[in-house]
Amino acid sequence: MEIRTGTRAFITGASRGIGRALAVELASRGAILGLAARSTDELQELAATLPGTHHVLECDVADEAAVRTAVDRFVELAGGIDLLVANAGITHYGPFRDQPLEHAKRMTEINWYGTLYTVHHGLPHMLDAAQGHIVVISSGAALRSFPWAAVYGATKAAQRMFAEALRHELSGTGVSLTTVYPGEIATSLHDHEKDTMPDWYRGGPDAAPASELAKRIVRSVERDDRSLTFPPLVRALGILHNLSPKVSDRLLRALRGGTAAPRRD
Ligand SMILES: NC(=O)c1ccc[n+]([C@@H]2O[C@H](COP(=O)([O-])OP(=O)(O)OC[C@H]3O[C@@H](n4cnc5c(N)ncnc54)[C@H](OP(=O)(O)O)[C@@H]3O)[C@@H](O)[C@H]2O)c1
Repeated sequence: MEIRTGTRAFITGASRGIGRALAVELASRGAILGLAARSTDELQELAATLPGTHHVLECDVADEAAVRTAVDRFVELAGGIDLLVANAGITHYGPFRDQPLEHAKRMTEINWYGTLYTVHHGLPHMLDAAQGHIVVISSGAALRSFPWAAVYGATKAAQRMFAEALRHELSGTGVSLTTVYPGEIATSLHDHEKDTMPDWYRGGPDAAPASELAKRIVRSVERDDRSLTFPPLVRALGILHNLSPKVSDRLLRALRGGTAAPRRD
C-alpha cells in the first residue's frame, strides 16, 4: 500500500516513542492521523506540530469499549482507515518469582489484549473497503525471550503468532499485515525502571533511533513485507535461535554477558 497524501492512519501509543516517530513520518507523507493514547496533552502537543489535520483520540487500549469508540470516531472523522497500527505497549522487567501479578496482568492487558481489541475493531472497516494494511509492533523478545522479561516476552509472542496467522487469513481480501520486531530502540519504554534493568540490557538513550525504525516501517508497509526486524542483528538472532537455542544462548552470553542466558544445559 502506498502511503500518500490523504492516507488515513490510526496509531495506538502515538504520544511517545515508536508511535510518535511513526506519526511524524506518516504526517510528513501527507497522512491524516488518528493519534490514540491515554496522554491527550502529549497528543495535542504532537498534533499541533505536525503538518496536516489530525485527530486526538483518548484511549486506554486495555479497555475494549474505549478502543471501539476511538476507532469508530476516527472512521467517522476521516471517512475510513487505510493503515491500522497496534503499537501501544508497556514493560515491567524483573525476575518472575518476585513480579507482582498486577504487573504481569497489566502487560497482558495492554500489549496483547490491546492489540486484539485494536485489530478486532479496526479490521472490519478495512474489510468493508477491501483495502488496508495492519502493522503489529511486536518485539525481538518474541523471537528469543530474555530472563526478567518472561511475561513481556509472552505478550510479544502472542502478538507474533496472532499476526502471523492473520496475514495468511487476509490473503485475497485487499487487507494485509506486517509484523515489526524491534530490538532496543531509544524510547521512554523503560524510563520507569531504568535503575533496575537486567545486566544484559544495552538499550537507553544511545540505542537505535525510533525515527529510523519509523522510516523502515513505512517502507515495509509500501512493500507489503511480512515482517520487519530492526536493528538487523535481531533478525540474525531470531534465525539462529530457531536453528539452535543453545548456539544463540552462547552468542548472547558472548555479546551480553552471562545474565542473558545463565543456564548451560
Ligand atoms: N523501545 C524498545 O526498545 C522496544 C523494543 C521492542 C518492542 N517495542 C514495542 O514498541 C511499542 C512502543 O513502545 P515504545 O518503545 O515506543 O515505548 P514508549 O516510548 O513508552 O511509548 C509507549 C506508548 O504506548 C502508549 N501506551 C501505554 N499504555 C497504554 C494504554 N493502556 N493505552 C493506550 N496507550 C498506551 C503510551 O501512551 P500513554 O502512556 O499516553 O497512554 C506511549 O505512547 C511497544 O509495544 C513495545 O513493546 C519497543
